[in-house]
Amino acid sequence: MAFALEKIATPSSLLLYLAAGFCLIYVLLKAIQLYRKRQQLLKAFESFPGPPSHWLYGHSSQISQDGELNQLLSWAKKYPYAYPRWFGGFMVSLTINHPDYAKTVFGHGGTVIGGLLILHGPKWFQHRRLLTPGFHYDVLKPYVSLMAESTKVMLDKWERLITVDKSVELFEHVSLMTLDSIMKCAFSCHSNCQTDSDSDYYIKAVYDLTYLVFHRIRFFPFHNDFIYKISSQGRRFQEACRLAHQHTDKVIKERKTSLQDQQELEKIQKKKYLDFLDILLCAKDENGAGLSDEDLRAEVDTFMFEGHDTTASGVSWLLYCMALHPEHQQRCREEIKEILGDRETIQWDDLGKMTYSTMCIKESLRIYPPVPGVSRLLSKPITFHDGRTLPEGSLVGVHIYSLHRNPTVWQDPEVFDPMRFSPENVSKRHSHAFLPFAAGARNCIGKQFAMNELKVALALTLLRFELAPDPAKPPKEIPQIILKSSNGIHLLLRKLP
Ligand code: HEM
Ligand SMILES: *[C@@H]1O[C@H](CO)[C@@H](O)[C@H](O)[C@H]1NC(C)=O
Repeated sequence: MAFALEKIATPSSLLLYLAAGFCLIYVLLKAIQLYRKRQQLLKAFESFPGPPSHWLYGHSSQISQDGELNQLLSWAKKYPYAYPRWFGGFMVSLTINHPDYAKTVFGHGGTVIGGLLILHGPKWFQHRRLLTPGFHYDVLKPYVSLMAESTKVMLDKWERLITVDKSVELFEHVSLMTLDSIMKCAFSCHSNCQTDSDSDYYIKAVYDLTYLVFHRIRFFPFHNDFIYKISSQGRRFQEACRLAHQHTDKVIKERKTSLQDQQELEKIQKKKYLDFLDILLCAKDENGAGLSDEDLRAEVDTFMFEGHDTTASGVSWLLYCMALHPEHQQRCREEIKEILGDRETIQWDDLGKMTYSTMCIKESLRIYPPVPGVSRLLSKPITFHDGRTLPEGSLVGVHIYSLHRNPTVWQDPEVFDPMRFSPENVSKRHSHAFLPFAAGARNCIGKQFAMNELKVALALTLLRFELAPDPAKPPKEIPQIILKSSNGIHLLLRKLP
């Protein structure tokens, strides 16, 4: 017997058998673990019926990139409150389409973690408290003329670009404009990124990152860190991160260098209100320690990302809505002309008078919410108003896009109708029916900043151009973390006399 074994199992092949055996055991254990996880998830979500899903692929096979939003809308019609959405067989999120459910999630105390940001818990709270003064009304005031400056650079570019009947793809120009504006406002950094193509790499890296993160969630083998790391997408992700960080580091370094300059330092000390970078660089905790380089970078990254990509989406879709609806476009233009008189530029005091334009902006944010959904990981169990519950550790997602088009909440939701935002109609509506900036403790801190930028961009654009859609190239909505169009947003621009 011993002899026989020796014959077939030389030392090296024995090792091979052992290795194979271990692998088999590992795979088996992993499979059991996944099976139990799935059973747990199925049990936790059992009171929420939803569209049928495959045990391994989840809903992935039923959703194509281009058709995702329409598929979610049709599920939302069938399950008007909420339904489980499976990202593969072992990850599920309760997808919420209704204001009552959204209210419970956003009001779920400070105990809900997750979101677009990396920070959570006490650290988030500390940073949020730190940054809040950076959005004080007196800080935002002087930004209006900076935003106007950035918008004008963009419009000048468009003026040079248009030839008769040739449409312009807006999104890329608008992205550079909002990046320019956030850099000037938040970081006092005048980069000229709209005119010299050097900063393009940052916009491209951010575009890549949003695409890659979006794709990773939907392709379940990439949920595994190891598989992702060795995949070509994972490597592309790392490269995009490196490029984005390079840009951020440059912004921070430039400011730190200028702080060493005595004159500059005095100038900052004299400023009544600091910009975000001032606030971050001067921040000290109770023990007198400043933010670590890593924290600083995370914070600047967040700002740059949240501040430019979302606003770019908001502005682009707003101009698209205006192009589709010439009657509203004209009414906004008249309102703006009346406010400005013969002035060519716009000031802080004008923004509050743009009543009708603001209603159009809100209606555009309803139909095309730049952030189509947000998600949360529950750090304690939750109970909804109808008594259904989910345990701690569950994922929930408020699908803002579906909620904004929920026909039980909004009548004829596909119709662009700014009158929905007349004061009378607003007061009659559910507090959580309109959530472009989310709600609760973690709502958008830059909401006022964004609204101002939307108003400035709208006013100056309408004064200079008449907008019409390009019938040959209608946009195709895709939810790449931010709401974008897979073929860009093309408009025909006609210079007004
Ligand atoms: C139209 C433009 C914008 C929209 C639609 C928007 C929307 C949102 C939404 C929905 C969230 C919640 C994300 C989540 O819970 O996962 C959020 C968070 C945030 N936004 Fe915005 N945003 C916009 C512009 C801005 C701007 C211009 C800034 C900065 C200047 C900004 C800074 C932030 C920050 C820092 C957070 C995280 C807040 C926290 O976790 O405490 N956003 N935004
Ligand atoms: C309220 O909204 C409806 C539907 O959009 C609209 O027809 C009506 O005029 C609005 N009411 C007011 C007072 O603005």
